[in-house]
Amino acid sequence: MDGCEFSLFDLLEKCALKVREAVIPLLGETLASKPVGRGAGGDLTKIIDLKAEQAIMNELKEAGISCTIISEEAGIVRIGASPDRFYVVTDPLDGTTNATHGIPFAATSIAVATKPFFSHLTAAVVLDLVHNVLYRAERGKGAYRNDERIRSSQNDDIVNSVLGVDVNIYKALDGKLREKLGRILSITKHPRYFGANALELCFVAAGVSDGFVDLRRKLRALDIAGGYLIAKEAGAIITTPDGKEIEAEITPQTRIALVAAGNKRLHKKILEILNREK
Ligand code: IPD
Ligand code: CA
Repeated sequence: MDGCEFSLFDLLEKCALKVREAVIPLLGETLASKPVGRGAGGDLTKIIDLKAEQAIMNELKEAGISCTIISEEAGIVRIGASPDRFYVVTDPLDGTTNATHGIPFAATSIAVATKPFFSHLTAAVVLDLVHNVLYRAERGKGAYRNDERIRSSQNDDIVNSVLGVDVNIYKALDGKLREKLGRILSITKHPRYFGANALELCFVAAGVSDGFVDLRRKLRALDIAGGYLIAKEAGAIITTPDGKEIEAEITPQTRIALVAAGNKRLHKKILEILNREK
């Protein structure tokens, strides 16, 4: 961030690597999934979530900075003398179920904002914890996978697109949403769901997938704040399912739905399919 007396990306990357150190030994371990309480986001906190969050908190505190941390488990934590200076918005471990089952798709997402809103996100890192691949972006300066600049897909052939679709619909979708989900799942030959939405958005950013759709209104803002900035900086279009800009206060409780696509044409086609009268 401009005007910072420390290297923001160095610090975010350090935090992410500390999460990796804490999480890798627990992948697929029974102990990792032991519940230890309920997080501020409303879901059960597992040991592995707590370890991931502690790694970030410790690193930020040790760096001696002042900021407000908004995190899935601990909620809102103000550190130092001027905590309103900036906000660290994090899902310490995205893909907990994958991680506790040993499925190699999980990430840590850490973003920085001048105010706790999507429109004020300024920088973000998402680390693919298993493969040690770092995605990062700074507002107005593009997105990177490790040191390589990434750009979203230009494919607008919806039938042949690789489209991420969150199918984790347990108790989430009413009949109308189910029907919309069905339309999206049946329009593409290649629907995918990997189980860590921060990384799904990084796949859109890097053109690995052509788009990602989550209709449930269950997705935590904290999970995808980082991936949102990274995908936007890579050229992706991300809106609500009815085409509105995603703008919400980022709190541990904020939940959203989204449609992300590598380009405007594909985004328009997805919205048309979702919003047409049957
Ligand atoms: C979950 C993942 C998953 C999505 C859930 C999220 P968590 O994050 O992103 O793909 O379907 O809505 O809660 O709980 O592992 O941080
Ligand atoms: Ca999480």
